[in-house]
Amino acid sequence: MMGTFMRLLGLGPGEDRVDPATGLTERQKKLVQNTWAVIRKDEARSGVAVMTAFFGKYPDYQKNFPAFADTPLDELAGNKRFQAHCMSIVAALNDVIDSLHDPGLMEATLIGLAERHKKRGQTTEQFQNLKEILLNVLSQGLGRQYTQEVAEAWDKTLEAAFTKIYEILEH
Ligand code: HEM
Repeated sequence: MMGTFMRLLGLGPGEDRVDPATGLTERQKKLVQNTWAVIRKDEARSGVAVMTAFFGKYPDYQKNFPAFADTPLDELAGNKRFQAHCMSIVAALNDVIDSLHDPGLMEATLIGLAERHKKRGQTTEQFQNLKEILLNVLSQGLGRQYTQEVAEAWDKTLEAAFTKIYEILEH
């Protein structure tokens, strides 16, 4: 009876246990996965929101993408090569969020992603800028579901993930 009540409140046993690998509690992981489920439901739109905001704020970055380097910002959303890229970004983020329960797998996923970007010359600064954009898109996309607690959980998750990426980019 009490157990059911606690689970309904989202306060099951072990909820406050901190994963030493990520610094996240079980509850924070669940908050991140549950809110990401909302964003990924509309994969194409979410991906396009991230990438158009990214190129809108940092127009020079678009030059790194030969397939749509010269497409005007307001025509990007309708460009199929751009849409395809946006889908692969979201798919890569799905892999990261899905692997939260397995820090070794999450690390391996991030290392692969960072190594492929490092080969193409992407920088820590570019990733830092994308991280800020991601947090904005999350808060806009989630609206009232983006509570203080959810924001903290996402901050911590992206901090852990991007720290790993920077390590690879810089060594
Ligand atoms: C969370 C961050 C990011 C994710 C999940 C992500 C995901 C991806 C994926 C899945 C691909 C295609 C497969 C691959 O080569 O890895 C890709 C390609 C690429 N990404 Fe990222 N990316 C991220 C950040 C960035 C940043 C910050 C830049 C800087 C501008 C960037 C620039 C590129 C470029 C230039 C390509 C190659 C595009 C092409 O020629 O097809 N990415 N990214």
